[in-house]
Amino acid sequence: MERLNIVTIDGPAGAGKSTVSRDLARRLGFTYLDTGAMYRAVAWAARRNGIDIEDKKALSELCNDLRLGFSGDRILVNGQDISSFIRTPEMDRLSSAVSKVDVVRKYLTEMQRDLGREGHLVAEGRDMGTVVFPQAAHKFFLTASAEERAKRRKMQIEYRGEEITYEEILTQIEARDLADSTRSIAPLQAAPDCTVINSSDLTVEDVIAKIVSEI
Ligand code: DC
Repeated sequence: MERLNIVTIDGPAGAGKSTVSRDLARRLGFTYLDTGAMYRAVAWAARRNGIDIEDKKALSELCNDLRLGFSGDRILVNGQDISSFIRTPEMDRLSSAVSKVDVVRKYLTEMQRDLGREGHLVAEGRDMGTVVFPQAAHKFFLTASAEERAKRRKMQIEYRGEEITYEEILTQIEARDLADSTRSIAPLQAAPDCTVINSSDLTVEDVIAKIVSEI
């Protein structure tokens, strides 16, 4: 199989994937694809339309009618920029729930492959190296301890002016890890041919330097 000029970065919530992927894409002159934002957009649209996440038929119809798009780093649903609505604890939970549904995964997987057709992509998510782009040239799995990820997440949330306790975040992170890694389709796991990087004791710069040296 021909290897694609794509870098995949998978890993659990809060491991620093977005910061690293965005920066890496800029340095390489590649496009950055935030697939978590796509699951969040579907979750947002489902919520907006009063759709029950258990209702597969309604989710399938939603996906058929949905016009998802990007404008730079912003994500659009039917032309509306929804980027500032999708990073809430409610959307953390709902996006993880819709990501278990096969019709949603099929719809987004096809769209992601389409966006990757020309290569030159840094694709970030949970199943980029395992399912969506198994033929990617460079695959990484970025992880960190749940405690470290909870600390980072707390800082992000507080930066937005919201309040949350460390214990609450840790519980949420552990629940989402469990849901994402035990679902039956495309569970969160490291591809056999990827490089695993544990970022618990590394700075963003250290992680990027490691990735660049591997590439
Ligand atoms: O990376 P994130 O936290 O924005 O992702 C939100 C949810 O979407 C996450 O809980 C799992 C799901 N997801 C997925 O199943 N597959 C992907 N490629 C990306 C995200």
